[in-house]
Amino acid sequence: MKYGFFDDEKREYVIETPFTPLPWINYLGSQEFFGLISNTGGGYCFYRDAKLRRLTRFRYNCVPRDTGGRMFYINDNGTIWSPTFLPSKTPLDSYRCRHGMGYTIFESGKNGVETQLTCFVPLDVNCEVNRLVIKNSSDMTKDLSIVSAVEFCLWNAVDDSTNFQRNYNIGEVEVEGSVIYHKTEYRERRNHYAFYSVNQKTAGFDTDLDSFLGRFNSYDTPQAVINGRSGNTVAHGWSPIGSHRLEYTLSPGEEKEIIFILGYIELPGNEKWEGPAANGVINKKPAQELAAKYGNSETVKKELGDLALYWNDLLGRYEADTGDKKLDRMVNIWNQYQCMTTFNMSRSASYYESGTGRGMGFRDSCQDLLGFVHMVPGRARERILDIAAIQFKSGGAWHQYQPLTKRGNADAGMGFNDDPLWLIACTYAYIAETGDYSILDELVPFDNKEGTERPLFEHLRASFNYTLNNLGPHKLPLIGRADWNDCLNLNCFSEEPGESFQTCANIESEAESVFIAGMFVLYGAQFAELCDKKGYTDEADAARREIKNMSEAVLAHGWDGEWFLRAYDSNGDKVGSKECNDGKIFIEPQGMCVMAGIGVDSGEAVKALTSMKERLTFEYGTCLVAPAYKEYHLKLGEISSYPPGYKENGSVFCHNNPWASIAETRVGNAEEAFEIYRRTCPAYIENISEIHRTEPYVYSQTIAGQESPAPGEAKNSWLTGTAAWTFVNISQYLLGIRPELDGLRIAPCLPKHYDKMRVKRVYRGAVYEISFERSIDKGVWVGGKKIEGNIVPAANEGDVVQVKVQM
Ligand code: GLC
Ligand code: GLC
Repeated sequence: MKYGFFDDEKREYVIETPFTPLPWINYLGSQEFFGLISNTGGGYCFYRDAKLRRLTRFRYNCVPRDTGGRMFYINDNGTIWSPTFLPSKTPLDSYRCRHGMGYTIFESGKNGVETQLTCFVPLDVNCEVNRLVIKNSSDMTKDLSIVSAVEFCLWNAVDDSTNFQRNYNIGEVEVEGSVIYHKTEYRERRNHYAFYSVNQKTAGFDTDLDSFLGRFNSYDTPQAVINGRSGNTVAHGWSPIGSHRLEYTLSPGEEKEIIFILGYIELPGNEKWEGPAANGVINKKPAQELAAKYGNSETVKKELGDLALYWNDLLGRYEADTGDKKLDRMVNIWNQYQCMTTFNMSRSASYYESGTGRGMGFRDSCQDLLGFVHMVPGRARERILDIAAIQFKSGGAWHQYQPLTKRGNADAGMGFNDDPLWLIACTYAYIAETGDYSILDELVPFDNKEGTERPLFEHLRASFNYTLNNLGPHKLPLIGRADWNDCLNLNCFSEEPGESFQTCANIESEAESVFIAGMFVLYGAQFAELCDKKGYTDEADAARREIKNMSEAVLAHGWDGEWFLRAYDSNGDKVGSKECNDGKIFIEPQGMCVMAGIGVDSGEAVKALTSMKERLTFEYGTCLVAPAYKEYHLKLGEISSYPPGYKENGSVFCHNNPWASIAETRVGNAEEAFEIYRRTCPAYIENISEIHRTEPYVYSQTIAGQESPAPGEAKNSWLTGTAAWTFVNISQYLLGIRPELDGLRIAPCLPKHYDKMRVKRVYRGAVYEISFERSIDKGVWVGGKKIEGNIVPAANEGDVVQVKVQM
């Protein structure tokens, strides 16, 4: 069942009912000011940091799930309705929510009144614009009142939802004209305030939540709306809100445009006040200017146009025309859009990430980069240097850092032994994309300590050596607290309810990871290539010898007969082996080892992938592990804490399915490679939205697995490394256009029925127009000339290069 449809022309997903299985959201903003917005107008805004600079409130665990956000009420002769359906819940005559690139539009109607509400954040501006156009399409004159509402958050979202004894006393606002200012704590240490304005003369306002709602009402039926009277309240403490009342008489056919702005203002200390600080009157000038500028119809049109151009530019760098609409819309629109969202948000703020928790993960950020480096290479460069700065001299790294301070986060700890190798992966990807080797010479400190700055290249060397310096009894890499699978904790045994599995006291252990071994072979080879480019030939040779040793160690000790083992635990017992009762086979080492090429020539690779298909793959994807663990295993950690079929314990953990797919391309199995891609790809499973439940335009982290009670049900949409990896898979391996150090490698691997297609790829400033067709005469032609091999060298900036591929 579907709840809407893709409008590819407009790059929108159009939701046709508010009754989606879950809130289906979108993101507004691209630089510092962001908003989450659901298909019923829910969500919240923040400036830079979703925890520390939260502008509007979100109630966690609220019922119904999605109250708050941008609220509008229309009172038409006693019928009260909301253009976004919530909060009033009045059934609408018509409803549409169009989630587009950086904007969301609601088109609704009731009793002959039609509204169009457009929500977006102008590029590089610290505000959200809500433009409401309201039209009387009936043949009678209508007296309408419109009431808006936002609820302010007292900045720190955690403190806001816990520290009531203080917070109920500190809320402060000012109201002047049609602008409501939220200035809590501005009198003391803050130099920022928020405002909520409307570009019209108001007929009343409210800023005190309790008076607005009334004693026993909630947002669906605020007393001020029901009674048709705003209280003109000025909040002192409790919960400050911003609510405007507008009243109009519209004749048949008449329409009115109203622009609301939710803005954020920061001022230097000496400009904070209008007059003496003791008077407590804030300097409103910058807010008034911002409100006036963006509360203008022409400006809004222009800004919407600029936003469209911005996305045209970002998405214009990889455009496929494969003849398969579903594929094209994922590649050209939604998959890349999601990659940019993970760039902006990392894992901070979604409807599943509270915005109050996690910082930026080391491995997560490195992998996200693989998906957006082609769109924002300059910002990717900066990100790499930030990440490298939380590495230690040993090559190990903090597992997370805080985006505001860019410092390692001690709560999340260190010693996740895959982390260092991801730094090689993203740096290589950056150079392959840009050809910018200068990044390797950038001086980057270790653990952000002044005086420890070394060229980035030395960080990569430290990463490579970290694995070698931490080998176990089978010459396989020690796993440390965990590798990519945060929940396979072979080193830290937890018996305390509520304790973190990753950071509880760890024991001396020689648990080893076959997955990291695969990573070492894959990314170690990239390190060796970079050594070559730097002219460090001996180092490159030495690195390749180590890689060879590691491959041999995997085949000698990491092979279980039919598939790759997952690990050795702290007792030296096998994890992910036919000898185990549960947890016999894991997806990660099959994907990673084959991607690295291990066992490709000697036959293990094909065997491993066959086992993977037989044991892990079902209708909705390839599960992480099977059979799932049925009871808690102290020595395996968090993985066995999840009920079977969920999260790391045997869901389809979408992040690693692309590894499996890429692995299939490595052994030339185009059909299954594509099937793996298709099974979890949002556009292909749109028809089962009632089962899948999360947004059909983006990937979710997990889909409940074959052993769960609800196979196919997804959770945790949007902020997942799945976005980057699926884009790498489809763009670089299935469509097969892969940036490498020496140019674009063209190696498509697609099922037979894709027989003709075109891709436009912007690469190092040149445009490659690549056309593919099937032929027995295989090869690659550049500008009409057949080239040797399949690497198209980088052209000059501004060139348009015609590439023909016969596959
Ligand atoms: C989460 C984490 C990621 C980890 C994955 C598997 O997505 O953010 O770092 O690799 O879970 O455990
Ligand atoms: C939990 C999750 C895992 C995630 C980790 C992040 O362990 O199961 O997916 O990576 O938290 O800290």
